[in-house]
Amino acid sequence: MKRIKRASIAGVAGYVPDYVLTNHALEQMVDTNDAWITTRTGIQERRILKEEGVGTSFMAIEAVKDLLQKTATDPAAIDLLICATITPDRITPATANIIAHAVGATRAFSYDLQAACSGFLYGLDTAAQFIASGRAKKVIVVGADKMSSITDYTDRATCILFGDGAGAVLVTADELDSGCGIIDTICKADGAGQNLLYQKAGGSKLPASHATVDDRAHYIQQDGQNVFKAAVTAMSEVVMEIMAGNQLTASDIAYLVPHQANRRILKLVAERVAMPMEKVMLNINKYGNTTAATIPLCLWDYEQKLKKGDKLIVTVFGGGFTWGAMYMIWGYNSCKPM
Ligand code: UT7
Repeated sequence: MKRIKRASIAGVAGYVPDYVLTNHALEQMVDTNDAWITTRTGIQERRILKEEGVGTSFMAIEAVKDLLQKTATDPAAIDLLICATITPDRITPATANIIAHAVGATRAFSYDLQAACSGFLYGLDTAAQFIASGRAKKVIVVGADKMSSITDYTDRATCILFGDGAGAVLVTADELDSGCGIIDTICKADGAGQNLLYQKAGGSKLPASHATVDDRAHYIQQDGQNVFKAAVTAMSEVVMEIMAGNQLTASDIAYLVPHQANRRILKLVAERVAMPMEKVMLNINKYGNTTAATIPLCLWDYEQKLKKGDKLIVTVFGGGFTWGAMYMIWGYNSCKPM
């Protein structure tokens, strides 16, 4: 009889561009200041992909190559590659196809998944289902966004928030009795939020035209205050739901891994779920909001601190609205040998 497997993260890697866009540099571009940005968002700088003629796949390929190397994985052993992004290189073909081709994942089928800032968690949940069913043994999930390509650098309400980056994880099958891996996931969506965080033009409803370009309608726009409130409520509730469903209290958890949209959002969520801030992964100060890349970039930054058996809660919120939470038990010791 085929045994049901449990998906587990077996490695993580990331890539951020070299160019650093500081708050002081933004002061020269729009009417803003470092003190406002720092106190209202927690962001001090973000990375921007400046190279001409390259898109999201450029960063994702770097992250996946590093992932394959550090996990000593033959690219031909990958069964599936999912790329979560809202800034694909092109509308078609999928950026995932481009990444898989570039890294030599010749056996993998691959596709993009679009769930805005929740895309990586949705992708990881999808990977976990393919593993559990036995359909795939090794899956790569990438979260990558070149947010600078859809950011209006004349709009101070949004241009201070976003950055570019990519992160990737290798998901493999563990025996259920190993105790590690992805234990439980809740994914949610509510299209009632569709006009609160969106790109007006460029899709089939309002294709690109001279008028849409003149209207600056291809840039991301949001109703910041309402998105802020919805994010705090949704992430707090879904974290509490997953903790209650798995009989967990804050003391059981090694880290809360939240989508990095605004430090104040994370602080409020942490307070509501009674999680001390020392247990909250934070890197928004140096990368800003990289949309689908924030969660794998957090895991990448904190990898050396993670130990086998650590209990993590991941939580996300983004355009759509989409949101969710995942409970996982970390599957390997990441500490560098002394
Ligand atoms: O990742 C997807 C999810 N996205 C989010 O979760 C983002 C959620 N929203 C936010 O993070 C916050 O709403 C923002 C950071 C976008 C804005 O912060 P806020 O505290 O909600 O500011 P606000 O929009 O209420 O604006 C307060 C004041 C306004 O001035 P007045 O009307 O009080 O005079 C704004 O015009 O701050 C002004 N302001 C700025 N001032 C300096 C807005 N943006 C800026 C700026 N620099 N960049």
